[in-house]
Amino acid sequence: MAGLTGIRWLRQLVLGLSCLLLLSTCSFSNGPTAGGKTLTIATEPTYPPFEFQSATGELQGFDIDLMNAIAQSAGFQVKYQRMPFDGMIPALQAQTVDAAVAAMTITAQRAKTISFSRPYFKSGVAIATRIDNQNITNFDSLKNKIIGVQIGTTGAQKAQNIPGAEVRTFNDSPLTLQALLNGNVDAVLNDQVVILYGIKSGNLKGLKVVSSLLTEEFYGIPTPKGSPYLQTINQGLATVLKNGTYSQIYQKWFGIQPPQLPEKSPIENQTSEGVSELLTSLGIIWKSLPVLLGGALITLQLTVLSVLLGTLAGSLIGIVRLHPAPFLRSCARGYVEFFRGTPLLVQIFMIYFGLPAVVQSFGFTFSLNRLAAAVIALSLNSAAYIAEIVRGGIQSIEPGQAEAAQSLGLSSVQTMRYVIFPQALRRMLPPLGNQFISLLKDTSLVAVIGFEELFRKGQLIVAQNYRSFEIYAAVALVYLFLTLLSSQAFSRWERSLNPVKEKRN
Ligand code: ARG
Repeated sequence: MAGLTGIRWLRQLVLGLSCLLLLSTCSFSNGPTAGGKTLTIATEPTYPPFEFQSATGELQGFDIDLMNAIAQSAGFQVKYQRMPFDGMIPALQAQTVDAAVAAMTITAQRAKTISFSRPYFKSGVAIATRIDNQNITNFDSLKNKIIGVQIGTTGAQKAQNIPGAEVRTFNDSPLTLQALLNGNVDAVLNDQVVILYGIKSGNLKGLKVVSSLLTEEFYGIPTPKGSPYLQTINQGLATVLKNGTYSQIYQKWFGIQPPQLPEKSPIENQTSEGVSELLTSLGIIWKSLPVLLGGALITLQLTVLSVLLGTLAGSLIGIVRLHPAPFLRSCARGYVEFFRGTPLLVQIFMIYFGLPAVVQSFGFTFSLNRLAAAVIALSLNSAAYIAEIVRGGIQSIEPGQAEAAQSLGLSSVQTMRYVIFPQALRRMLPPLGNQFISLLKDTSLVAVIGFEELFRKGQLIVAQNYRSFEIYAAVALVYLFLTLLSSQAFSRWERSLNPVKEKRN
């Protein structure tokens, strides 16, 4: 009795603590707190010279200096929140942040869902390619080439108009440029200043900028629609532009006098009415479904291919784990520990971005195609888990079985094949099913190398219509459908292997 009360009490304590934890991570605000004013500003510090991190992890860059100056002159505090560039517009819409400073171009499409401050920087998209590339000289020569872009940027938008080109989207700008250096893409479309800064700072030796600007753009500071801070930010910006602070910051980062900026952007902020109501959520999901299903097909291909290779390698490693030779055993064990003990994401980066760079540094030309890199990473990783499943399955069969088989005159291979393995397989199936399902979900990680599987397709749609909730919900449902389907298939298989076939309804 006392034990029972104790358990109940413990349960309540755990419940209470979890609620508290949950509450402390949410922030409920009643709109702006302009009085003491700390604005949360989103930024993506992988975009030098606009926003990046110093060696000690501090934020720095033109945008950061400018934002700090604006805050100072307009009298508010700034709290920076790091987030991916393609997450900013959804975050602004959801009002999780008050503004963003991210070298964000004022575009008509964005102005439908968020508002922009007055322009603060003149920019444009340029083409970057490798120094030794002679045949990419202008926009037309990009035809049928492989183009790297950052997801959700104006460069990505521009790349859509290149006939026959294969566009690969990466999560941030350094990854696109690394892919270019590695030879995984032929050219990158990115803001010119960013490429030039990278080349000048010596981090992107081997790259060049070709031809003139493809676009003329102005950066603005975005805020949610109807934000009371837009005016504050605009006033601050006007002050720093007038009192010389702007020009000081400009010279600090670019070494030249700033060009004249228009006072108003040619693109007007639009009122939000009617825009979001235009398409119902269901309509949005419905419209994106064909693209998502296309992505699901790629996800399935990737999973099946990696599971097949992973099972092959994993079975081998699992058997070696039981080998009498201690050296072989420890090699297999080392493999399992490494691939199970390091994040899959890190493995993917190592293989796709790291490996070619290392091989090339030895003077070889080598680049991995995305499918190969994705399948290699996923199979190597799942092989480690499958090896453990195979080992466990085999070890779970009582030694008496092998002894009995051998006393019947079966060789050790025959014993394995006819006695141990069929029984072990039945025990291995449930964990193998789990592994299949984990792998199916883990394929979403290869989106980081620009692989357009289900999750990435969703991200790309969100980068266009900014309807993150609907699209990611649809993505989740498609994953769920796939995993339910696979767990059905596995239970059927399990049943078919059951020697005592009982009929269950
Ligand atoms: N100016 C481009 C755009 O607005 C690229 C900006 C990318 N910014 C960044 N922080 N990664 O689409």
